[in-house]
Amino acid sequence: MRLPEEVKIVEVGPRDGLQNEPQLVPTGVKIDLINRLSRSGLKAIEATSFVSPKWVPQMADSRQVMEGIDRHKGVIYPVLTPNLQGLAAAIAAGATEVAVFGAASESFSQKNINCSIDQSLERFAPLITQATEQGIQVRGYVSCVLGCPYEGEVAQEQVARIARQLLDLGCYEISLGDTIGVGTPGRAQAMIDTVAAQVPVDRLAIHFHDTYGQALANVMACIEKGISIVDSSVAGLGGCPYASGAAGNLATEDLLYMLNGVGITTGVDIDALIEAGAFISSVLGRPSGSKVAQAIGRKEV
Ligand code: HMG
Ligand code: MG
Repeated sequence: MRLPEEVKIVEVGPRDGLQNEPQLVPTGVKIDLINRLSRSGLKAIEATSFVSPKWVPQMADSRQVMEGIDRHKGVIYPVLTPNLQGLAAAIAAGATEVAVFGAASESFSQKNINCSIDQSLERFAPLITQATEQGIQVRGYVSCVLGCPYEGEVAQEQVARIARQLLDLGCYEISLGDTIGVGTPGRAQAMIDTVAAQVPVDRLAIHFHDTYGQALANVMACIEKGISIVDSSVAGLGGCPYASGAAGNLATEDLLYMLNGVGITTGVDIDALIEAGAFISSVLGRPSGSKVAQAIGRKEV
């Protein structure tokens, strides 16, 4: 087993985490969180999404968030853009990287973005072209790679097909989302094998929600398969408003503790990260979803 020397962590807490919060999180808190995360050494922080505020009210302040954050040199702040309207708004707010989000399940595609998988790809094509022409990199998500909240099992060939299509449309990186966190390590590895037959493994990222407590084990299993880009969420924030089974993402603190433990470099400072997680947890008025943050917090008491 050869592990990568380095892993890129894509912090998705300010977007995937906060989009699902029932209480409206003030814009200033979002900006403060992103600024704290920027100081931790993270190189990619998904900041917000330019989606319909009727669909996801929590992200209605995306422009103010993008205009309010301190942008650190060497850090990218990707945002979600489901259509050309979102892309135009993202560019106007100064976004330099965007992400389109598709799914491997028809029902989830309909519930999440109100169109079929094929329609979504048709919609993404001009978006990716326009973005790329303006020097904006586009990331592509595939949701429901190990199961769908509406359809149950999802065929791995379908995951590979959508991932390949997103790559062919011009996405530079494809993030494979276990949206409802039902995957286990053996199935996660088999899925990576199937997708990696279509998309070079160094273009693949993984994105595990931790509903069944499998996320860390799944990440390790995928790293063993050559994956070196991992999405996670500070304090384990997260969920998807259109997937009721989606708990928080894998906590970034827990991911980092494990990567540090096996000698993989990330450039992220765990103390700064724990501090950012403690900040947002205290604002939300609940304990951190990170076991590592909880354990270190107990020791400090
Ligand atoms: P629609 O209703 O079909 O859109 O929604 P439409 O084009 O018919 O427009 C309807 C209205 O929405 C219009 O406003 C548009 O202006 C407005 P009205 O005339 O009624 O006042 N609108 C927009 N407003 C702002 N920004 C936009 C935008 N587009 C249209 N970009 C749409 C289609 C895609 C817009 C909608 O379904 C949507 O916004 N969906 C987003 C859902 C979402 O954000 N889900 C969570 C993110 S995905 C996720 O969490 C999974 C992930 O983490 C990976 C994983 O875990 O698997 C990425
Ligand atoms: Mg997600």
